[in-house]
Amino acid sequence: MIVTTGYSPEEAELLRASKIAEQAGIRLVPRKRFSIPNLFVQYGADAVLIVTQGKVRLFREDQPVLEYHPSMGYVRAKRLLRGEPDPMIDVSRAQEGDRVLDCTAGLGTDSLVFAVKVGPTGLVRSLEASPELSVLLREGFASYETEKTAVSEAMRRVEVIHADHLDYLRSLPDNSFDIVYFDPMFRKPVYDSSAISPLRVYADTRALSEESIREAVRVARKTVVLKEKKGSGEMERLGFTPDARNHAKITYGVIQVD
Ligand SMILES: C[S@@+](CC[C@H](N)C(=O)[O-])C[C@H]1O[C@@H](n2cnc3c(N)ncnc32)[C@H](O)[C@@H]1O
Repeated sequence: MIVTTGYSPEEAELLRASKIAEQAGIRLVPRKRFSIPNLFVQYGADAVLIVTQGKVRLFREDQPVLEYHPSMGYVRAKRLLRGEPDPMIDVSRAQEGDRVLDCTAGLGTDSLVFAVKVGPTGLVRSLEASPELSVLLREGFASYETEKTAVSEAMRRVEVIHADHLDYLRSLPDNSFDIVYFDPMFRKPVYDSSAISPLRVYADTRALSEESIREAVRVARKTVVLKEKKGSGEMERLGFTPDARNHAKITYGVIQVD
């Protein structure tokens, strides 16, 4: 992956692009007059991150452009602020002030909902194995503006880290987070999931390992939560109790630690 700007970038764009490159350890290249298809050829890149006024967009040949958008995260966050229930929050028993480790950040929908719930006294740290997705999400959370201040502020508080969750979990002390959360790529894709299909080409699609769950149980104080497709067998394989109240196609399972 390389990072560049629009044609004739302003100082602020250049600065942001070079900060992203430095933080993510990726190569910053001059845009010159290269069209987007030409950037792939000129620099031999598989993915190109383009920083333009306030926007960060991810390009890959023959793929739709990917740009951060909170999508359902915004809808769920607003519902939560109105005091309406959210099944993920109910199952995890997340409360204000909790520390949440999201082991599968993706496009950050669930992290955002957790961040609204735990508030400024809590913490949401989100791990993403894909270098492209972790940059896109970090930059999206840092700059996306919604009409609800509480939601925009929640985005700014999420810490996005490019890491494999098993490596990261192994490095953590016992009981250092209240909740550890997993939403892996489904073993069989749900083809009507418009939120997930754009990220499939970048995502790490490995199945969750039993060791990751053992580590998560060691690190969590309260709950370990798994989102999965009903009937996938993953809840049983990994020792989660599915949420009996939820009758949707996609459900949450929990391991109670406390
Ligand atoms: C289904 S998506 C998560 C969607 C996310 N919950 C959301 O709300 O947008 C799964 C994500 O987990 C990431 N992932 C898979 N295995 C991982 C691992 N071992 N460590 C960190 N991230 C991982 C994938 O790259 C993918 O982006």
